[in-house]
Amino acid sequence: MEIIRSTSEMQSRCLALREAGKRIAFVPTMGWLHEGHLSLLREGRRRGDVLVLSIFVNPTQFGENEDFDSYPRDLDRDAALAESVGVDLIFAPEAADMYPRGYRTFVDVTGPMTEVLCGASRPGHFRGVTTVVTKLFTIVQPHVALFGQKDFQQLAVIRRMTGDLNLPVEVVGMPIVRETDGLAMSSRNVYLTDDQRRQALALSRSLDLARGLVAAGERDSARIITEVRSLIEAEPETRIDYVNICHQDSLQEQPEVDADSVLLLAVFVGQTRLIDNGHLMATGRDS
Ligand code: PAF
Repeated sequence: MEIIRSTSEMQSRCLALREAGKRIAFVPTMGWLHEGHLSLLREGRRRGDVLVLSIFVNPTQFGENEDFDSYPRDLDRDAALAESVGVDLIFAPEAADMYPRGYRTFVDVTGPMTEVLCGASRPGHFRGVTTVVTKLFTIVQPHVALFGQKDFQQLAVIRRMTGDLNLPVEVVGMPIVRETDGLAMSSRNVYLTDDQRRQALALSRSLDLARGLVAAGERDSARIITEVRSLIEAEPETRIDYVNICHQDSLQEQPEVDADSVLLLAVFVGQTRLIDNGHLMATGRDS
């Protein structure tokens, strides 16, 4: 396994691999790898001849008062984990190489898809994500790229961008990986104290509650959301950003639950913002 830092070196290596007929599988991350990332990498290993992992804490997707500075970073730790699942190349660029002085070009999926949910509470976030993913696709030249469904809206936005720009990359979404008690794996879980970690289970319990209500015949989204909000608000250090039931493709709110409905949650536990989601009916594409 090799670690490459330069954007131009990475691009020429990947172009040469393509010319040699190699199929490139790519997992973009911000590092601090966990089992969720490793599941993407294992699937990437299966789908490609060459497995590329990028590790880049992308400044353009963080708001001013967000956790860019404190985001956990440890390249040695990540490299050891990456090697254990068969990564061939790690691309770990410097911000100044990705965004040199005078950088001016951004990629923006406009309209409702990026204006709701995380797009409403984190203005500019998806513009930063789609810009960096476009740049990473251009540098790494992947045939297939794998993303986690925990970032449900991000995956929908990236699929939209890839289609709209005719990028020749197959985008694959992979199921959420959870701790045994249900907490969705996230690099940000490291910020939680033991007590906050316990309170954070309110997110996965919300999914269980909502699915139980739907299984019992409830279809009214407003009533389900009210129940979920009370469950979360019963924990002292939680603050709800949003609790919505949306269509899995358009991400628009649905007053009535059907097989396309996804419950999407963003909740602060202390200072840590956590997200989670899941389909509400067994017939939905599950996450
Ligand atoms: O999901 C992430 O880790 C990031 O948003 C991504 C896709 C690597 C872009 O920086």
